[in-house]
Amino acid sequence: MTRLLQVTGPDDPAILEAAAVLARGGLVAFPTETVYGLGADGLNPEAVARIYAAKGRPATNPVILHVADAVGAQALVSHWPAEAQVLVERFWPGPLTLVLPASDRVPSIVRAGGPSVALRCPAHPVALALIRAAGRPLAAPSANRSQHLSPTLAQHVASSLGEAVDLILDGGATAAGLESTILDLAGDRPRILRPGPIGPADLTALLGPVELWEGAVKAGEVQAAPGMAERHYAPRARLELVAPGSGVRGISGTVAYVGLGSLPPLPEGVRGILLPLDAEAVGTRLYALLHELDDAGFERIFMERPPEGERWLAVRDRLRRASAKELP
Ligand code: TXA
Ligand code: MG
Repeated sequence: MTRLLQVTGPDDPAILEAAAVLARGGLVAFPTETVYGLGADGLNPEAVARIYAAKGRPATNPVILHVADAVGAQALVSHWPAEAQVLVERFWPGPLTLVLPASDRVPSIVRAGGPSVALRCPAHPVALALIRAAGRPLAAPSANRSQHLSPTLAQHVASSLGEAVDLILDGGATAAGLESTILDLAGDRPRILRPGPIGPADLTALLGPVELWEGAVKAGEVQAAPGMAERHYAPRARLELVAPGSGVRGISGTVAYVGLGSLPPLPEGVRGILLPLDAEAVGTRLYALLHELDDAGFERIFMERPPEGERWLAVRDRLRRASAKELP
């Protein structure tokens, strides 16, 4: 059995125990403010290789290094641009990951052989205490099998990764519920690779125009934004997006319908779930809800398409990927 320890705060002795597991090259799942991460010593290539094996993650998909502060990040890059300084003063610790040119301290496996490294300073007392106790940057992708739903509870980690994790630190439900915003600062112009809790308006307020990469990586394609497979973040149930208020008709099987702001009349046997018409609240709740519906054995989930507009960008992005057809 994988060990699961409750952590109450940054002084909890479980954190020192977890740091010892990391020092031996082991894997520790820990809470952040976005989703749970699957952590390993980010400067130990064998430990990072265990992350890829545990997740079933393709070797072409690099991982984020988590640091405790800007000084920790500066030690891992060959160039620290003025934009990075401005951004981290405003948003770190917080759900903003920066892609920057890597220094040669960053193992090749962390970068998936590429020239850049993704860096993030999580706004969670347990995550920060763990990074400090380890005395190393922690490589940590979301603590789920590749392409599956990200975990917002320790139980999600246990059921997705099981024995592959040495220790899970249980800090309760994560706050933001969706993965960090990823901003690429290694190219000519700042570019959002993954929308998240920090929106384009927050970034343009500090940087001026910021590009939004809206593509998706198809199977076999050269990866511009390596992890952005078209199907990703997916539940086992078939998820379909529908027009608000449309309801469902003539459908059999175990079906759930997720309304935003209100629920239309639904046929008997269809489970109606009401979420508020509030992007942040839906972000916090979305993965946990999909996990619950999967665990309850629902075969199909119909969810109302969220409104247009920037506030809903991250939720729309995850729903688009979660509802994309299986790749051949
Ligand atoms: O909120 C988060 O970011 C969570 C928590 C645990 O910190 N982590 C997370 O990691 O979502 P992961 O591995 O599930 O997603 C990281 C994404 C992947 O799509 C990966 O391809 C991309 O970041 N990435 C990592 N390094 C990169 C790099 N050097 N250049 C471009 N993209 C990179
Ligand atoms: Mg992930």
